[in-house]
Amino acid sequence: MSQPAYLTGHTYDPDRAQAFLERAAAILDAGAVAVMLSIGHRTGLLATLSRLPPSTSMEIAQAAGLSERYVREWLAVLVTGGIITYDAQHGTYLLPAEHAACLVPDAPLGNLAVYAQHVALMGQVQDQIVERFRTGEGMRYEDYPCFHHVMAEDSGQTVVAQLFGQILPLAPGLVARLERGITVLDAGCGRGEALMALARRYPESRFTGYDLCADAIEDARRAARKAGLHNLRFEARDLTHFDEQERYDLITSFDAIHDQRSPADLVRRLYRALGPGGIYLVQDIGGSAHLENNLNFPNATLLYAISCVHCTPVSLGQGGDGLGTMWGWETAGAMLNDAGFAEVQRHVLPHDPMNVWFVCRKP
Ligand SMILES: C[S@@+](CC[C@H](N)C(=O)[O-])C[C@H]1O[C@@H](n2cnc3c(N)ncnc32)[C@H](O)[C@@H]1O
Repeated sequence: MSQPAYLTGHTYDPDRAQAFLERAAAILDAGAVAVMLSIGHRTGLLATLSRLPPSTSMEIAQAAGLSERYVREWLAVLVTGGIITYDAQHGTYLLPAEHAACLVPDAPLGNLAVYAQHVALMGQVQDQIVERFRTGEGMRYEDYPCFHHVMAEDSGQTVVAQLFGQILPLAPGLVARLERGITVLDAGCGRGEALMALARRYPESRFTGYDLCADAIEDARRAARKAGLHNLRFEARDLTHFDEQERYDLITSFDAIHDQRSPADLVRRLYRALGPGGIYLVQDIGGSAHLENNLNFPNATLLYAISCVHCTPVSLGQGGDGLGTMWGWETAGAMLNDAGFAEVQRHVLPHDPMNVWFVCRKP
């Protein structure tokens, strides 16, 4: 084969090209499956399938209360995508228990279909993002349909599900202080589900949740009212100019620092808002600041993609630094030290390999 014009000056290995073509084609299939997993999660089809014996498309559609024609087409994607098995003789489909173990609500290995929603969300904002590549402008949270819903499901798994078993014990003595009664702020609380779980468990403590997005705060307030919780309040507040002094014993932020306008400035402000001996408990993305260290980091590709279409644009949209999702635990640790925290401990929890947890104490 003569060398293509665009490769002048490069060597060209046809076997390598063919192997890569196969990999690129497989990427297209994997992307399609990810969007279908998102649909399967949102329609309840994956959960329905996990409860059914081998069943026809009509039986599955009826059990899920959905249109058979759409369900049959969706099933075909997941059969060819290696998620569901198909018995051609009986015309039945089955989601094997070992596959359901990471694809349905309350699955023992966590529900990866929740994260598939991030892939679908990327497609929904593609046109705006293409435009931002040209202009360099940012995005607003409200540009992303369902973002707070998806995020609440995401942190429902990484934060709320392990709050009492794994997360609070990272800070020795914290549970006893919460039981006695302390003041707590969740900075960037989103729909506030972690704060509500804390408020329910520790009635002697008082909880405040601030978030930029009024719609997320409205949902949080509604849920708190419904749960009859009186020891917490939610307020829509832009934390960019946050200026409360020594008011809290515990501040938390769950996946809410890297996409702020200025993460370093906010961390300094949160430090000032803690009283002496106060604790700052932070969950953020656990990748490294250096691309070359992230080649084997769990779901690094997905995280960089989320960064490209969401975390970087929303920070830029606030006139901010746009550090991105993979700003790096090194960057986060340095900011926490610079803010003045005397002690900064870093943990990675087994249920949450994508994130890092910092426990920081104010002297
Ligand atoms: C990735 S979400 C995490 C939400 C929530 N902590 C959770 O775990 O579900 C980041 C949150 O930070 C909030 N946020 C971003 N910039 C903010 C700002 N300037 N002031 C207050 N909140 C902000 C967003 O509205 C969003 O809810």
